[in-house]
Amino acid sequence: MREEITKVLFSEEDLSDAVKKLGRRLNIDYAGKSPVVICILKGSVIFFSDLIRQLDFDCTIDFMVASSYGRSTVSSGELKIKKDIDSEIRGKDVIIVEDILDTGNTLSKIRKYLGDKEPASIKICTLIDKPVRREKSVQADYCCFDIDDHFIVGYGLDYDEKYRNLPYIGILDPDKCK
Ligand code: IMP
Ligand code: MG
Repeated sequence: MREEITKVLFSEEDLSDAVKKLGRRLNIDYAGKSPVVICILKGSVIFFSDLIRQLDFDCTIDFMVASSYGRSTVSSGELKIKKDIDSEIRGKDVIIVEDILDTGNTLSKIRKYLGDKEPASIKICTLIDKPVRREKSVQADYCCFDIDDHFIVGYGLDYDEKYRNLPYIGILDPDKCK
């Protein structure tokens, strides 16, 4: 293991089991429906790819790239959309797939932005939740793991765009990064 990763929090097997379990829940809740499943890039790409292959209902997929100002600066920042969805979601069920719910600044704005397009429903599905860091009132409808206040990387999650390719999720010590 790399020395800057101080601990493996979730192994490949933990992640695979959790994604399968979440897929089973979604298969019950969305049976007979045809939602649009939206991947929030880039962090969700691996989680999303694994999750959609567990789904046995009809669905379409779409992608969004967005970032929110005000993470460590003053909040109330705007949502900056670098890539919008291509689909028409009005009247449709929408599932937002996010890697990690931290302060909630990004997801609260994405939810509002997509909600303004008048879908029939919107649910938030996140791999990881860090509830102690929350600043905005946004809750995940589906979540695989709650964690304490650690900075984690791997399975899509990055530090300075690195580590997304790790097959596990580990705690990063940024002081040990080159
Ligand atoms: P929020 O707006 O504070 O909820 O930020 C959510 C975004 O911050 C996520 O989509 C991630 O891109 C990033 N983020 C938050 N915590 C971590 C972490 O521990 N590791 C890597 N990225 C993180
Ligand atoms: Mg990110």
